Amino acid sequence: MDKWDKRRSEILTLLCREEYGFIPSTLTSLRFELVAEDKQFCAGKVTLSKVLAAGQLGDRSFSFPFYTSIPNGKQKYPFFVFINFKDAIPDAYFPVEEICDNGFAVLSFCYQDVTSDDNDFTNGLAGVIFGGSERKADECGKIAMWSWAASRVMDYAETLSSLDLTKAVVVGHSRLGKAALLTGALDPRFACTISNESGCSGAAVSRGKTGEKIKDICNRFPHWFCANYSKYMDKEHDLPFDQHFLVAAAAPRLAYVASAKKDTWADPDSEYLSCVAASEVYGKLGLAGFVHPDRLPEVGDVFHEGDIGYHLRDGLHYLSREDWLYFIRFLKRKFQV
Ligand code: GCU
Repeated sequence: MDKWDKRRSEILTLLCREEYGFIPSTLTSLRFELVAEDKQFCAGKVTLSKVLAAGQLGDRSFSFPFYTSIPNGKQKYPFFVFINFKDAIPDAYFPVEEICDNGFAVLSFCYQDVTSDDNDFTNGLAGVIFGGSERKADECGKIAMWSWAASRVMDYAETLSSLDLTKAVVVGHSRLGKAALLTGALDPRFACTISNESGCSGAAVSRGKTGEKIKDICNRFPHWFCANYSKYMDKEHDLPFDQHFLVAAAAPRLAYVASAKKDTWADPDSEYLSCVAASEVYGKLGLAGFVHPDRLPEVGDVFHEGDIGYHLRDGLHYLSREDWLYFIRFLKRKFQV
């Protein structure tokens, strides 16, 4: 395990330096303020609260809101930290009542409340970090900032007695699945990391990948990454890692990769191969890793036996109710709740 701790930290340095960028360590703590509370949410089964996280770096300050939806029972709940596209609750990506009915709490935030999804590094968290100055080649892109915010929501979770802190799960879809993977890799407080259709520069291995390539993503979304990442446009084979490093960085904790058959831009086969490759680390730690048949995935495959959970559903790029129910099934089995 000592050997893996050392290797894991080398892997994290590599991923930050070459792909997502480093967040300055001077930005560590935020203040939290409860701004609204509804104990009657979901027919009185859930308390929905709105919290404001506020931080300062020198004379620059910023804040972002997030929500907690916690069942009104007496036990400590396992919970999701959900990085979402919107701040509405419920939302098309977010069947909150059903999640809570299943005995899970959810803490969620809208990614763009942290900083905008574009090349503007002067607003929100980006503005606080850079204060208008130029980003260095290994300094954080936006994915790293959304991921950092998820860890701050986890800081708040640690102050709540209604949550089971040993059963924290970070989840996101697509670009926010990439952010969820980075969060789970960097923050060992998360017992499970869930990537839904995160594709290129998320769960999918880059070598041999079809659909979106590093060149496509760096041309359209350069702000998601650190500037160093653009070195690998059309040069996947020069990468000193591949995306299974990101999945494996969760080890020995749980990871989950979900794919959709018609999401060819993300490339389900490459997401699956990443789980296969990441499994080696679990194996070396004496764990089951990814338990799967010796073939490529087929629609309807659900592999929940090992430490890396997986499913491939039919349909398009979307975080569906079906995906959430698979996550919940896997977590109930692993957490024994
Ligand atoms: C684009 C992008 C993907 C990303 C997706 C999303 O399609 O190319 O890499 O995952 O947006 O976030 O919805």
